[in-house]
Amino acid sequence: MIFYFSGTGNSYATAQFLSDKLGEPIVDIAQATQRNETEYFLGENEKLGFVFPIYAWAPPKAVVDFVKRLNLHSEEQPYTFGVCTCGGSAGNAMDVLEDALKKKGIALDSGFSVVMPDNYIVMFKVKPLAKQEEILEEANETMERIAWAIEQEKRDFFRVKRGKGAAFLTTVIYPLFLRGGTKTKPFHVTSDCISCGLCEKVCTDGCIQMYKGVPRWMKEKCNMCLACANRCPKEAIQYGKRTKEKGRYIHPCWK
Ligand SMILES: Cc1cc2nc3c(=O)[nH]c(=O)nc-3n(C[C@H](O)[C@H](O)[C@H](O)COP(=O)(O)O)c2cc1C
Ligand code: SF4
Ligand code: SF4
Repeated sequence: MIFYFSGTGNSYATAQFLSDKLGEPIVDIAQATQRNETEYFLGENEKLGFVFPIYAWAPPKAVVDFVKRLNLHSEEQPYTFGVCTCGGSAGNAMDVLEDALKKKGIALDSGFSVVMPDNYIVMFKVKPLAKQEEILEEANETMERIAWAIEQEKRDFFRVKRGKGAAFLTTVIYPLFLRGGTKTKPFHVTSDCISCGLCEKVCTDGCIQMYKGVPRWMKEKCNMCLACANRCPKEAIQYGKRTKEKGRYIHPCWK
């Protein structure tokens, strides 16, 4: 069983790729959370996987919270793996997942990262399409290697691009991001909005409600997955002035 979280499709595409290769079903963490589903049963020899994007050199809080609430039933200790997708470096994110799983009595056997196009338009401009295609091609090769390692049930096997200063970024910057970088107040909608309601539908946090034809952000903080801003067909969602002229990114599987 592969649990995944995804704002713009990179982690979904990775989870789906692994699901096809390994014959494991996939479960959307955002949907499961909104339905308050926490109880899962693993069959004999079934593997357990977590696929997620990197937010400020850590897993999304929604993924860690899901693991905390998880009520997993399994006859034996399942072979367990984590795969993160990132724009460049994952820091010590896999350690954060490992700690959360350990508290549930589950050992993380292997961990991997896949570099994919960066969707953090609050900071960076989206890369040109040709570059995105190049990155995604390389990502597919990485996924093949990951699927092979998981099929072999490699243990104590970690292939994660941590980057420089990983410990500092994960232990110091990540908590700052959670405190200040996930506020919804800067979100606003421009007159380009066509009232299609897609932002409300794709929000991973149940945070957006349509009101008089335009989205309203109903929580003070959210997952900051940027699905709303990246997937809006009219690029009508902005985050303060920071997402202006940055372009928008969606993985081809969700276009
Ligand atoms: C709030 C936020 C923070 C991010 N922080 C990082 C980071 O620390 N390191 C990194 O390499 N990529 C970072 N990214 C980029 C995403 O991890 C990357 O694009 C990921 O593949 C997106 O996955 P998704 O399409 O499944 O949502 C960040 C993206 C967002 C939205
Ligand atoms: S996705 Fe964009 S166009 Fe559609 S309702 Fe939301 S803001 Fe408006
Ligand atoms: S409001 Fe936007 S950024 Fe926040 S969780 Fe929902 S879709 Fe993601």
